Amino acid sequence: MKNPLFGKSLISVDDISATSLFLIFERAKIMRTLVTNQGGDDRLKGKILAALFFEPSTRTFSSFITAMQRLGGGIIPNNGMKNTSIEKGESFEHTIRVFSTYADCLVVRHPLVGKPKQASEVSSVPVINAGDGIGEHPSQAIYDVFTILERFPAKKDLVVSLIGDLKNGRTVHSLTKTLLKLPIKIKFNFISPQILVMHEAIKKEVSKKGASFIQTDDLYSHVKESNVLYVTRVQKERFTDLKEYDRVKDFYKVNEETIKNAKKNMIIMHPLPIAVGEIDRQLDDNPHSLYLKDQLKNGLFVRMALLDLILRK
Ligand code: NCD
Repeated sequence: MKNPLFGKSLISVDDISATSLFLIFERAKIMRTLVTNQGGDDRLKGKILAALFFEPSTRTFSSFITAMQRLGGGIIPNNGMKNTSIEKGESFEHTIRVFSTYADCLVVRHPLVGKPKQASEVSSVPVINAGDGIGEHPSQAIYDVFTILERFPAKKDLVVSLIGDLKNGRTVHSLTKTLLKLPIKIKFNFISPQILVMHEAIKKEVSKKGASFIQTDDLYSHVKESNVLYVTRVQKERFTDLKEYDRVKDFYKVNEETIKNAKKNMIIMHPLPIAVGEIDRQLDDNPHSLYLKDQLKNGLFVRMALLDLILRK
């Protein structure tokens, strides 16, 4: 099959067809076997990835770097741009053009929506959006959906509860849109405080694609029916009024009590970091919890798959 991702940027999950999504999943499984059996190989030897992170990152940065290195490629790692000429006043466009002269692919994270897209317009090489403000985080969504499907491979209907900051959390924006690409019936529970509800445009897309959703601030009534509890951090850095943040930051505390009536195979996910105990640490090693286990590991395999598909015909 032709590789439709070759040479292409990944800015939004809208850039990915259902066919491409499953192609990435198949490649991610190959990557898992490769890492398990021999750590990696050198298929990306001679290729360079530049990571340009204008916002803090632990997992996204490190897993892209690891992914590139496990496939034999080289890296230009900038976790923070403080030590680049951005500090001297160099423009975003020039910075992107410079790195795209050296590297074969750019991974860009930025606090403003649309910056990775802007980067892709001036870059001579593909750009991967590693999170743009309250916009999207496509590679995260791809591995989240991969993780969900690995747990529920044959299920034809799913109840997915997204909990927390659905307004500012980019992971849940990309995740909702990616789940809509699957050939299964999905009910979304958008569970958030009133001031942090899911974007109208995404809710419209859910309805347009024939899926259903409810919007509520009540977590307890919806745990029992859920197959997936996807918990998110209230995004402190997106608030202009920190008093408002203080009012909502502790809205949800998922713990053993919360999930006592959950389905046996219900899974708890979180893109991490857990900031203020929105999931109690007592659940870290609970069999329902995947956020420090499969979900995290799949991030590496999916990013290896993405780099392989984008950088090799
Ligand atoms: C997320 C992000 O940066 O959007 N982190 C991540 O990449 N796993 C989630 C978050 O910061 O809350």
